Amino acid sequence: MEVALVETTLQRLYLGDGGLRREDLKKAREIAALLDEIARVGKRGWIVDAAAGHTYAGLLAVELLGVERLLVLERDAQRLERTREAARRLTRVAEIELRAGLVGDRALWPAEPQLVVALHACGAASDEILDAAVACRARWLLLVPCCYAEDVPSMPRAEVAAVRLGISGKAEIRRRFLQSFVDSERALRLEAAGYDVTVSALVPPSVTPHNLLFRARRVGEPGRMAAAAAQLEKLRG
Ligand SMILES: C[S@@+](CC[C@H](N)C(=O)[O-])C[C@H]1O[C@@H](n2cnc3c(N)ncnc32)[C@H](O)[C@@H]1O
Repeated sequence: MEVALVETTLQRLYLGDGGLRREDLKKAREIAALLDEIARVGKRGWIVDAAAGHTYAGLLAVELLGVERLLVLERDAQRLERTREAARRLTRVAEIELRAGLVGDRALWPAEPQLVVALHACGAASDEILDAAVACRARWLLLVPCCYAEDVPSMPRAEVAAVRLGISGKAEIRRRFLQSFVDSERALRLEAAGYDVTVSALVPPSVTPHNLLFRARRVGEPGRMAAAAAQLEKLRG
């Protein structure tokens, strides 16, 4: 997707006469890359934008890709209100549902959505989205986690593993090990649940250091699930 088109669409839907700030230009690059991923997945069925913030990804998927059913999950009422305002400026018709609440609340999730997309869900919210996507049998998940906060469920295990393996205590080395452990656990968790997973950089780290894209497709292949479950058990010690 052309970044310039994403920029002008962001401007039109969200910013009115105000110009794009530096962070908007960076966001436009992330959204352009994510829209390419969403386009590959297909636009039929519910697309869930989880921890959506102002729903840049979801609303631009409607406007630029023709997504027809969008479900927005977000805890912040003001951000949902901004989504509602921006949605009024869409030129495409779509069924859009805004649900206020926590992504960990399973009652908010639809059954078998085509796609769950989550860009920069904070800390443990990424794990809650991953688990909810598995539980509601999402066909696809596009997940770009954000900060590796202490509330991330696999973090205590990562810290124990760092000590057990004698990982250097130099801050930068330790940080990278912990992040790698957390992301390994996430990838294996998805694979053990029957997803085919690829992990790649969504955008260069100069755009955002939180650039790891988990692209997961439900395939349910028992042999691969069993192998991943065994590896997950090994990782968890
Ligand atoms: C860093 S922002 C990213 C927003 C948007 N996806 C984007 O990339 O522009 C993270 C958003 O997730 C929301 N959030 C964090 N934890 C959440 C949770 N447990 N349930 C629902 N929303 C959550 C925050 O309110 C915030 O709007």
